[in-house]
Amino acid sequence: MSNNYTNIFELQKKYVMPTYAPSKLLVRGQGSYVWDDQDKRHLDFGSGISVCNIGHCNPAVSAAICSQVNKLVHVSNLYINENQPRLAEKLISRCFDGVVFFANSGAEANEGMIKLARKWGSDKGRHEIITMQDSFHGRTLATLAATGRDKYRKGFSPDMPGFSHVPFNDIQALKDAVSDKTAAIMLEPVQGEGGILPASVDYIRAVRELCDEQGILLMFDEVQCGMGRTGKFFAFQNYGVEPDVVSSAKALGNGFPIGAFIVKRKYAEVLQPGTHASTFGGTPLACAAACAVIDYIEDHKVLENCIEQGKYITAELNKFKDKYSFIQGVRGLGLMIGIVLDRSAMEIIPALMEKGLIALPAGETVLRLLPPLTVSKAEVDEALKIMQEVFDGLA
Ligand SMILES: Cc1ncc(COP(=O)(O)O)c(C=O)c1O
Repeated sequence: MSNNYTNIFELQKKYVMPTYAPSKLLVRGQGSYVWDDQDKRHLDFGSGISVCNIGHCNPAVSAAICSQVNKLVHVSNLYINENQPRLAEKLISRCFDGVVFFANSGAEANEGMIKLARKWGSDKGRHEIITMQDSFHGRTLATLAATGRDKYRKGFSPDMPGFSHVPFNDIQALKDAVSDKTAAIMLEPVQGEGGILPASVDYIRAVRELCDEQGILLMFDEVQCGMGRTGKFFAFQNYGVEPDVVSSAKALGNGFPIGAFIVKRKYAEVLQPGTHASTFGGTPLACAAACAVIDYIEDHKVLENCIEQGKYITAELNKFKDKYSFIQGVRGLGLMIGIVLDRSAMEIIPALMEKGLIALPAGETVLRLLPPLTVSKAEVDEALKIMQEVFDGLA
């Protein structure tokens, strides 16, 4: 099998822009597993960075894509396609009453959310958006300016104006930053790239109150933590408060590119024809995939499994914490889990990979686990065994 792929590394090196530094060639996937070019099996506890939440090549999603691909792939948004309103209804019925704008990626969904806030604030003299330190919102210029880590912005100055960053989970810092120019507060309920850091319930409730008092929008970026990852369909549902706007992408299509942001009905008219658009946003094909994803999550009790396996793996990892001094803590929500280390996660990830477990880094010292939400207990045990072997070698 490896012979089929012998020139791929060469082609990659010569012709693909080196914005990533991948070392492994993956050629197929099924459920919680992916296989490399040597036909070696890996348990994928990264899920394509929280994308393949219901497993690789999920049969229901593949069937929906195959069926739609022979019916209608693309029509302009100048026309209605049957799958877009169907998907919008499925999202709204699990979120809050409102309307959806469809995009293609997390950054594009967030970019639209930012434009909505600016448009809404434009006749009120409010254009500034407060976001959180250590947040990640994407790589376009606006979402980069929103992102609360300097390292991503280095070399791309000047930053787009109108963004400020405050410490996460610190309500006083947020209160101090709000002014009569503030249009919105934007945050990830669970910070992903920043190090798997959940907002506290008190904090999120206080932020909601602050937004209500000051008449500003509350916008949640659920690109990584949404779509069931935390055990609720939307992460904000863990907090008992609703944002005014929420974005989604990554797992929405389980690998088929699609993003979206949802606004409360009160703000449904803010963006009018001609103010925002996307050629590929919400194609019949992308929406067919996402409809199948949502149905699957419901029909197969995926959220219930996420909660159960999340509790189990977290309890087991906490035992590791007591055993290995280099583990400083375990945190997260549902199956969005961070193991806080006393060293870079990149010192451990290759050894896990060698033994057949894919894990991800987050922040500087966090080992991030994002298994599929369909993961079985046997697969969790397999991952724990590999981690134990690698951790034993380090201890
Ligand atoms: C919270 C969050 N927002 C936005 C993005 C950007 O999404 P995309 O890479 O699809 O543009 C990411 C990607 O990791 C993310 O984690």
